[in-house]
Amino acid sequence: MRYLLALDQGTTSSRAILFDHAGQVCARAQQEFTQIFPQPGWVEHDAREIWAAQRDVARQCLERVGMVRTDPCRMGHELAAIGIANQRETVVLWERATGQPVANAIVWQDRRTAGRCDELRAQGKAGFIQQRTGLVLDAYFSGTKLQWLLDHVPGARARAGRGELAFGTVDSWLVWNLTGGRAHVTDASNASRTLLYNIHTGRWDDALLRLFGIPRSLLPRIVPSSGVVARCDPALFGVPVPIAGIAGDQQAATFGQACFAPGMAKNTYGTGCFMLMNTGTAAVPSRNRLLTTVGWQGPEGAPRRTAYCLEGGVFMAGATIQWLRDGLQMIRAAPEVEALAALVPDTGDVYLVPAFAGLGAPDWDGHARAILLGMTRGTTRAHIARAALEAIALQVADVFAAMEKDAGIALRELRVDGGASANDLLMQLQADFLGVPVVRPRMAETTALGAAYLAGLATGFWASAQEISAQWAVGRRFEPAIGAAARAAKRARWRQAVERARGWAAH
Ligand code: G3P
Repeated sequence: MRYLLALDQGTTSSRAILFDHAGQVCARAQQEFTQIFPQPGWVEHDAREIWAAQRDVARQCLERVGMVRTDPCRMGHELAAIGIANQRETVVLWERATGQPVANAIVWQDRRTAGRCDELRAQGKAGFIQQRTGLVLDAYFSGTKLQWLLDHVPGARARAGRGELAFGTVDSWLVWNLTGGRAHVTDASNASRTLLYNIHTGRWDDALLRLFGIPRSLLPRIVPSSGVVARCDPALFGVPVPIAGIAGDQQAATFGQACFAPGMAKNTYGTGCFMLMNTGTAAVPSRNRLLTTVGWQGPEGAPRRTAYCLEGGVFMAGATIQWLRDGLQMIRAAPEVEALAALVPDTGDVYLVPAFAGLGAPDWDGHARAILLGMTRGTTRAHIARAALEAIALQVADVFAAMEKDAGIALRELRVDGGASANDLLMQLQADFLGVPVVRPRMAETTALGAAYLAGLATGFWASAQEISAQWAVGRRFEPAIGAAARAAKRARWRQAVERARGWAAH
């Protein structure tokens, strides 16, 4: 067997990457899909478009190394397995009989259920929910989104009661389609983002299902993140390729960064920014408004049966740069932001708080909205671009501080990945604001690689976590270049700006 195929289904694009034994990229393909914004604060996807894009990029990838469906023999000999990494929390609800979604998918960024979360909080449910799920009660997660669909799509609740519908996060939706509707599963890392899964028992939780009014008949079967869970419909690729790895994209990136030991942390700069720290087999409760989440579950031979993580998620990272590009039309392509921001030595005391979809960790304010403040007549595009980069790094610094408090240790460095980690200025700002080195690995595709590793360990493509750790190599290390006093002043000023963004939409 020569290849492992990773499907990386993100918030704005579906990607496929083919890896070899050395963990090197042999082929890749990517397709963006439509972002639907029906009302302020709402974000939807057409799940059929996600699947079509994912299927197409997978086929393109295979074709790029000469594997075509008409040659099943070669495919069967060369393609070991498929691993899936996916945008998390996004809710798909579909008809079992036809496989058709009954509504657009509600995306993790969608704030429509912020009010429902307020109600549950007023009823004193937040502590109970956090104790069982490890999550903060917030519209970000799947539970209230699924409840909203059942309550607003005509006939959905009755049909769910009759067992006619299926719910899944995007991993479930992809596996359903990859298997021609034969497997309805989700892995433990994705389940742990739904508000319906008890991270201590490893099962769907009846009390939570009652609280959110979710019938059990909707739910997928929970499977390990590393293990053969199903085989693809041969009509797709010519052979029944095993699906052997599934994880939420952030957990997959943590795996791809070989953060196998407790205390190791990574931060991914994607649409949002997500920092995860491995806490080993202990589900460490957060006292600083972070999340306790399943990292991954594996069979024997994988690093651990269940690894837990602490997580802090920032909702707007790359999406802030996209807003400069699409909303303000200040740049034509995202990478241009680096040169623009470098035209000025500082922001001139301008701050952008990119609370376009509320604020995630550690503020958790679904009613916060973005602000740009501190501008004078001398403010230019360059200052705003630099403020956008600083905002990403300052949000991450807030999460990092909460992570250190929860862990009770000083983190010595941060491994980084994701699209915007290629931005050297952003990485330098990040090291400056954290006060510890930021380490970018040579391999940038850690999310897809993590999914491939999970699938590869389950199928013997890779033998052990040690073999995987040995493949990880430093690309570039960024050392902090400002002193403690300047760092503290910058971060205090940032917190003042954040306070001004809070609560704006709660009217
Ligand atoms: O929790 C949301 C996260 O999974 C989205 O990841 O890479 O699409 O920003 P990404």
